[in-house]
Amino acid sequence: MENASDSGKLKIPNHVAIIMDGNGRWAKKRHKPRTFGHAKGAEVLEQTLEDCNDLGIKYLTVYAFSTENWARPLEEVQVIMNLFRKYLEHSVEKCMKNNVRCRVIGDRSRLSPDIRDAIDHLEQMTRNNTGITFIIAINYGGRDELIRGIRKISRDAVQGVLKPEEITEETVGRSLDTSEFPDPDLLIRTSGEQRLSNFLLWQLAYAEFYFTDIPWPDFNKEELIKAIRVYTSRDRRYGGITGQQESK
Ligand code: FPP
Repeated sequence: MENASDSGKLKIPNHVAIIMDGNGRWAKKRHKPRTFGHAKGAEVLEQTLEDCNDLGIKYLTVYAFSTENWARPLEEVQVIMNLFRKYLEHSVEKCMKNNVRCRVIGDRSRLSPDIRDAIDHLEQMTRNNTGITFIIAINYGGRDELIRGIRKISRDAVQGVLKPEEITEETVGRSLDTSEFPDPDLLIRTSGEQRLSNFLLWQLAYAEFYFTDIPWPDFNKEELIKAIRVYTSRDRRYGGITGQQESK
């Protein structure tokens, strides 16, 4: 385990995004239902949020439920939704205690009204907190978000508020669910898969990617620091030719 002086050498990313994969396989390995893995995943998420906050990370975005996850068996979807109900409700007190500002991204229209209310309540209650911003992606898909954004921009264009040639990266960024947040610096995906699965397609353009075979329910602070150590060693050039600090 790292001590404080070890973590002092790390370059702490401002925004970390996580694809929390492997709950089902983790549970299956233990001869338990997949939903057991999701429940453990929720506990691990709570601890990870605390760890990110302790390390000085300012934004944490997690992929909790994708627009494609509705295709899972109804019973699994229901258990995950019940987990969200419990988690969102319980998070109010926890976020207030730890000064966490909580936001949810994704298309809420397909969520049940009580979950939408719980999200509104959590966002409202925590909006003035000044610690880490915790962003949960629920019924989120990168392509769906872009389509919703393009529709907003098109409406402005049709109404004459915006000329097509005035559309810039900022215009697109502002049309997305993440308009108020900086782009992630580091993406972590657990459990061996090395793909984006429709997560933050626009926002991850310049993020560093870190993949680990560890399933999400086994993720911990040591693993988080390992990811940040790899991030620290990467030379982010943003399309340029040298490190930002170096001269030609
Ligand atoms: C991926 O594992 C996990 C999910 C699709 C659900 C994520 C939900 C949680 C981690 C629960 C906690 C979140 C909140 C906000 C309470 P998988 O089911 O795809 O695992 P597999 O790839 O092994 O099948």
